[in-house]
Amino acid sequence: QEDLFKNVVSHAKEYGFIFGSSEIYDGLSAVYDYGQNGAELKKNIKEYWWRSMTQLHQNIVGLDAAILMHPTTWKASGHVDAFNDPLIDNKDSKKRYRADVLVEDHAEKLLQKAEKEIQKAKKRFGEDFDEEMYKETNPRVKRYLGDRKQILERLAKSLTNEDLADVKSLIEELEIACPESGSKNWTDVKQFNLMFGTKLGASADSATQLYLRPETAQGIFVNFLNVQKTGRMKIPFGIAQIGKAFRNEIVARQFIFRMREFEQMEMQFFVRPGQELEWYEKWKEARLNWHRSLGLGEELYRFHDHEKLAHYANAAADIEFDFPFGFKELEGIHSRTDFDLKAHEEHSGKKLRFYDPELKENYVPYVIETSIGLDRMFLAVLSASLKEEDLGEGNTRTVLKLPAVLAPTKAAILPLVKKDGLPELAQKIVDDLKWDFNVQYDEKDAIGRRYRRQDAAGTPLCITVDHDSLEDNSVTVRFRDSMEQKRIPIEELDTLIRKETDF
Ligand code: GAP
Repeated sequence: QEDLFKNVVSHAKEYGFIFGSSEIYDGLSAVYDYGQNGAELKKNIKEYWWRSMTQLHQNIVGLDAAILMHPTTWKASGHVDAFNDPLIDNKDSKKRYRADVLVEDHAEKLLQKAEKEIQKAKKRFGEDFDEEMYKETNPRVKRYLGDRKQILERLAKSLTNEDLADVKSLIEELEIACPESGSKNWTDVKQFNLMFGTKLGASADSATQLYLRPETAQGIFVNFLNVQKTGRMKIPFGIAQIGKAFRNEIVARQFIFRMREFEQMEMQFFVRPGQELEWYEKWKEARLNWHRSLGLGEELYRFHDHEKLAHYANAAADIEFDFPFGFKELEGIHSRTDFDLKAHEEHSGKKLRFYDPELKENYVPYVIETSIGLDRMFLAVLSASLKEEDLGEGNTRTVLKLPAVLAPTKAAILPLVKKDGLPELAQKIVDDLKWDFNVQYDEKDAIGRRYRRQDAAGTPLCITVDHDSLEDNSVTVRFRDSMEQKRIPIEELDTLIRKETDF
């Protein structure tokens, strides 16, 4: 698993998917740039989400709000007062950590220990093994799981009560050491606001403190009435948006899983009060189906229902994905009640209500939110697609089995040799197809190497032009996943590529 993660990171760089930001200056931590293939893959993920939200739902429309918003927005949303992480510094190493993450990591280790014991027992007992029974009866496993539960409960309680002294004593009791140096010399735990600040205006005195948005959702809330009125939307309806968000994350790790500048794809669905939990269930199902439709494997997803709810939510769940470092949050589905719209009413003094013609009354709608990190989705797709295949007789290949609809290049057009008019015919095919598909011409190296290169970049189809093509107007199509080859007339390429790679 660890190796897979390392492979994903190096593959992403080697094939032009992801580079560290401003690398020539040694980079900027937790900020990344998308290369030639990454930019295409990311765009295709956006398109796949956007079309399934706005094109497939008559009652969902798009929005593209600004990153900078009036500062009162963040007062109303609660971000100024409560968008904090608990920080702790190690006095010896002078390194800074998220106190909750240190405790969670410790809890995760206990879980791993328990799972190791369970796996061992599974091997020993074979088919008859009853995992649930074992968890309840084996004293060691019971202790690991019990301790873990207690630790997490205590953490959650102290964080909700803002009892940060208790988080510190938890860290000390668990004898959590500063991961690098082993030192246990900690400061108190402090709250740290995650919003990036910036200034509007030139003169120092009159400049206004602004924030780079930490979520895209608030742009939707403040535009709720604009869209509802001008689009003559009737409840239930949704507003979808894709855009950048910024968080000054303290623990930046796991590549593009947790970034300081990232993109979100969020949709707020406005419903009648009282109907929100029904819609919440529907959206949970719909979002899981969206993920499954990509065909990466159903076993890679699971729900995690939140027991502890944020102050604005009356139900919340994550769709977790089996990343190379384990199951982690990929998307959140939240029933946010009328918290945000009400707060914006209070802070702006403007009514944000909908007149329901059926009920003949005005109300502040309730909101179901679906929120997915685009970069996290990118990492999920990349890590589930990267395969090292054994082809027998000592041969292997690295292949990126991306869902064809997301692949950066749909087809590579390859003249078998660089002479005899083959490049010209191949180039003509490119010129015909390029209006509809992202295709790539490649004439460098032997054909086998070119196939491998396209496999590694995730190109679903390779189209080879050979000497026979000049006579029979046909080409050889090679399929990335099966490596099967098929001869087809050039005029049928358009239909074939569409069939293989369309939405
Ligand atoms: N509007 C709700 C909201 O922002 P969230 O759980 O804080 O909720 C939603 O974020 C999604 O955004 C997460 O499920 C994750 O995919 C993504 N996300 C959050 N923080 C991120 C970060 N630092 N880097 C990359 N993606 C992030």
